[in-house]
Formats: sequence, C-alpha cells, structure tokens
Amino acid sequence: MSRKVLLVGDGAVGSTFANDLLQNTNVDELIIADVVKKRPVGDAMDLEDINPFMGETNIHSGEYSDAKDADVVVITAGVPRKPGETRLDLVNKNVKILKSIVKPVVDSGFKGVFVVSANPVDILTTLTQKLSGFPKNRVIGTGTSLDSARLRVELAKKLNVPVAAVNSMVLGEHGDTSFENFDESRVNNKPLRNYKEIDDDVLNNIETDVRKKGGKIIANKGATFYGVAMMLTQIVSAILDNRSIVLPLSAPINGEYGIKHELYLGTPTAIDGNGISHVIETNLSDIEKEKMLNSANKMQEVLDGIDL
Ligand code: 2OP
Repeated sequence: MSRKVLLVGDGAVGSTFANDLLQNTNVDELIIADVVKKRPVGDAMDLEDINPFMGETNIHSGEYSDAKDADVVVITAGVPRKPGETRLDLVNKNVKILKSIVKPVVDSGFKGVFVVSANPVDILTTLTQKLSGFPKNRVIGTGTSLDSARLRVELAKKLNVPVAAVNSMVLGEHGDTSFENFDESRVNNKPLRNYKEIDDDVLNNIETDVRKKGGKIIANKGATFYGVAMMLTQIVSAILDNRSIVLPLSAPINGEYGIKHELYLGTPTAIDGNGISHVIETNLSDIEKEKMLNSANKMQEVLDGIDL
C-alpha cells in the first residue's frame, strides 16, 4: 500500500515539516496544498532535490481533494502569532480557515487521520473533529508535545543530564493555562523534587520560561517552526509506520481528570497506524488536577464563543 500524506499549509511550519518528514521516514507521495498556489509548486521542486539522498518520494503541489486516498492530512494552515499575540487571539481567523479546509477534505472521501498543529491547537483540533464528523481517534493535535520537549530541554540544562533522562510533561492547553506534572516528574528515574538544584522557585521559573519560549522565539525571529515540525514528524511517521508511541498530544477527553466538557486537550496519548489508540489519564496531584480542570474550562469558554 502506498504511503501518502497531504500537507495543508505551506508556511514556515508546513515546509519545515515536509523536509523533516522526508528525512525521517519513507513516504511514497507527499502533496502540498496552500491558498498561495505558487508556494507549494516551488517547495515541491525544491524538496524533490533531496530525493537522491533520501527516499523516492513523489512530491507535488495539489488540492484538498487530493486527500481522497491519503493516510494523513496535516493541517498547519492558519495565521501565525505576531509578537505579543496569544494563541487564543488567532481563534476567529483560524476557525474560518479551518472550515474552508475540512469540508473539501471530507468531501474527497478521505478515510485517514487528521493531524492538526495550527493554533490555538486544542480548539482547532476539537473543531476539526466536529466539522469532519470523524471518529475521535482519527483526529489528533500536536497539543503540549512541543511544550514538553521544551521542558525536557530546560530541565536537562538545569540538572546537567541528558534530555533522554528527563521524564516530565507539560499538560492541558498548548497555551497560557498549560502546566507541568512536576509532582510526578522523574529524572534518571529519581523524583525530580529530590534533586538538590530543585525547589519551588526554580520550578516556577522553568514553568514560566517554557510557557513563554514560543513568544520569545517569535519576538526574535518572527516565527517558530523547527520544534513543532518535529512533533508533526513524530506523529505522522508513527501513523505511517503503524508504530506505537506515546506523546502528550491534544486528545479527545472523555471524563478523564473529572473534566465534564467534550473537547481535545493535552494529555499523554498513545498513537499508532489508526490514529489514537489510548488516551492516557496520567496520575496527577490534586493541585495539578485543578490546573487541568482550569485549562479545560478555559478551552470550553473559547469554544462556547465560536459560531461554527
Ligand atoms: C509554539 O509554541 C507557535 O505554538 C507554537 O512554538
């Protein structure tokens, strides 16, 4: 069976993801679609030049209707944040863009998995499932995977250990109400809080730095794309390879953590070739559970204000 991906949105995140994906896994066909028609034409030509050194991928520009027999549709399309903007400031513009994408993709007969990274990602992932009517396991958002990567990098620097030794996650909204599971975090299999370098002030500073990192990158270089493109690559390659991985992703909540709302939110999630196989309710302390509920309430408040 051929391995086919449709990328919708060929901005900085989309094109970086296309490059990462081609370099990390075998793809038979990669189609790139964007409202700016010339950009995917140029990107497909540019990316084709790495073929002799990677795989033999058929890379070309296309339309949303090309989703028909794709395994995955990746949605990066949307207005990105400007310096000083929050992800939630983007909601109205990006919901409009999302609506123009999901319907033609579904009308094409697409039967694969939607993977969403456009912001605000928890909102747009929830709405992709609603608009598509797809089973919830076939819609995934990048969620707090990027925040968690950022957290692991910070903790590794602070404790002078390899990133791989750090087992710690950011959960909840990919945005201002996100929080860390510090009470359960382990480094080199020892509780994080047992390290002499760690106290509440240090953890508060790390939490703030991780939350503000995206904004800081935007303030310096105008956009963030390498990190989120790598998260997309991890997700899409696991789907294409039918390989089971667990990452903190935007996943459909069904009563986990006592959340009463029906929405997607950042929690550890197992995925494989069929999309989401398990939404994992990880152990949280009471304070962290409150933070999860706060994140869910914030997301529901935003969802309630959207007129689909
Ligand atoms: C980030 O956190 C922009 O949401 C993206 O880098």
